[in-house]
Amino acid sequence: METVIDVKGLCKTYIIKKISNNVLRNIDFILREGEFITIMGPSGSGKSTMLYTVSGMDRATAGDICFLGKNFSDMNDKELARVRLVSMGFIFQQMYMMRKLCILDNILLPGFHAGLKDRKQIREEAEMLMRRLGIMDIAENEISEVSGGQLQRACLCRALINHPKVLFADEPTGALNSKAAGEVVNELVKVNRDGTAIMMVTHSARVAAASDRVIYLIDGHIEGSIELGKLEDEADLLQRERQINKWLMDQGW
Ligand SMILES: Nc1ncnc2c1ncn2[C@@H]1O[C@H](COP(=O)(O)OP(=O)(O)OP(=O)(O)O)[C@@H](O)[C@H]1O
Ligand SMILES: [Mg+2]
Repeated sequence: METVIDVKGLCKTYIIKKISNNVLRNIDFILREGEFITIMGPSGSGKSTMLYTVSGMDRATAGDICFLGKNFSDMNDKELARVRLVSMGFIFQQMYMMRKLCILDNILLPGFHAGLKDRKQIREEAEMLMRRLGIMDIAENEISEVSGGQLQRACLCRALINHPKVLFADEPTGALNSKAAGEVVNELVKVNRDGTAIMMVTHSARVAAASDRVIYLIDGHIEGSIELGKLEDEADLLQRERQINKWLMDQGW
């Protein structure tokens, strides 16, 4: 399996009023092609910071982050932004859609911005994604006119418009009720089965149960990880959730 992201000795320190906060301490980590991994850990343990530095949204203080063999530290901010645009997708708990654009235009935006295909093809791509995620009927809606679950599925369409190698998801179900959360997780599993690697942060063992591997972060370092393997059958989710909960308790959750 090809290595998508290779992280060695990742450290991130924030300095506020001359006081340093070592948020990430010496993280080593590999994400392979087609993998679906989850980061769990207490609030403030550095999960979002890990996601943001590993995806190049924020710069590391020390260490190496290589994406498809290229080191982020050899890229300037513009090059890094291009890599994020064409090879990475992002979804967040807060969703971050443009209020002045309808759902479809929000999805088209990064497609047009990347310009990998002509506009007609990108539009067809967006419609294909929206159909697949069951939100074609809300294409022209304002973002305030749809449910949270629909909005997150639209965010997923937007994240996938340029066929990213990896999808980063920071608490993608954090703002959703359990039914909508389950639907978004099902979509993530499908996206992953189609070959996109996923790195997700969640507080929910139920959500984590869909992934292949769970990493437990505490005080900015990796305390342990558990290998669940690919989810072959949805019926296994409950048993996997129990396995994660038991493991987290052993970790001192
Ligand atoms: N931009 C920033 N500037 C300064 N400190 C920050 C910044 N972002 C995060 N921190 C600090 O880094 C630590 C880790 O934050 P982070 O958001 O990564 O935690 P988390 O594990 O994602 O928590 P949660 O589960 O609450 O989302 C916290 O102490 C936080 O205050
Ligand atoms: Mg967070």
